[in-house]
Amino acid sequence: MGTDLCEVLAAGHEVTGVDLEDFNVADAGATAGAIASIDPEVIVHLAAFTDVETCETQHPKAFEYNAVGAMNIAGAARDAGAYLIFLSTDYVFNGKKREPYTEEDETDPINYYGLTKLHGEHYVQKLAPRHLIVRTSWLFGPNGRNFVDTIVKKASAVMESPDGGPLRVINDQRGCPTYTGHLSVGLAQLIELGLEGTVHLTNSGDATWFELAGEVVRLAGIECDIEPVLSEAYPTVAARPAYSVLSSSVLKDTDFRPLPPWQEGLRDHLQRKGLL
Ligand SMILES: NC(=O)c1ccc[n+]([C@@H]2O[C@H](COP(=O)([O-])OP(=O)(O)OC[C@H]3O[C@@H](n4cnc5c(N)ncnc54)[C@H](OP(=O)(O)O)[C@@H]3O)[C@@H](O)[C@H]2O)c1
Repeated sequence: MGTDLCEVLAAGHEVTGVDLEDFNVADAGATAGAIASIDPEVIVHLAAFTDVETCETQHPKAFEYNAVGAMNIAGAARDAGAYLIFLSTDYVFNGKKREPYTEEDETDPINYYGLTKLHGEHYVQKLAPRHLIVRTSWLFGPNGRNFVDTIVKKASAVMESPDGGPLRVINDQRGCPTYTGHLSVGLAQLIELGLEGTVHLTNSGDATWFELAGEVVRLAGIECDIEPVLSEAYPTVAARPAYSVLSSSVLKDTDFRPLPPWQEGLRDHLQRKGLL
């Protein structure tokens, strides 16, 4: 996400991109020192321990990176007088609803990653006087591991294997696939608007993993049969919400231009990967 965001923001702002090799957000002193030397007007806090499975088995590291990290960034934003945007997740919800989650809905994470991100939200609310928490979901983009690229790789391998498939993909989890290129443009808009509080921001439309995979192979022209299966076909340590579609009641009342349908993001992503 950070790579795409830096590229988009660089068109109109002076941008300093930092990563784990520059400082660890779990280290309060290093974080305070780095932010003070950059002296930013705006901080977009994206750094996180995002491996949902490993978060279940490495609780201390997950809490340090995701919750304490957000606490340190929020304190540094306060001291720098900076406006803080914190990227959070649909996994703060339990997934029991069957209609889109809005900003007013109760949080109730069902995995440790979601819990640590929720603690991160609370620290941001408490410590950063000017902040915006942006909950998003199911990210894909040209930099970093993501579901879309995994499907391209697996579907291509299935096609080349002697029995030829099918590829089995989970069809009982529904969310909003979101393209980092579009989300970056959305975050740039939010910085201009200077909104405060909590908002939900994703590409428009929703899908199951099976539906998303179907569109991936169709657009990429990979002739691979895809079979819908239940989550139990792929047991995981971390529970995932069955339904985590996000919508925004907050952005509706602003000048914010909504993000395009996820299918457009998928096209752009595959084009950048040379697959269209
Ligand atoms: N991916 C999704 O589907 C999704 C959905 C909803 C919300 N989000 C949120 O969106 C944000 C960006 O996600 P992403 O998918 O772009 O994540 P990502 O690909 O895992 O990137 C996270 C970046 O943060 C760095 N980092 C990790 N721990 C750090 C630490 N303690 N101090 C400093 N830097 C650290 C990582 O460095 P290394 O690469 O060196 O580890 C990596 O560059 C995260 O806050 C995530 O919680 C993601």
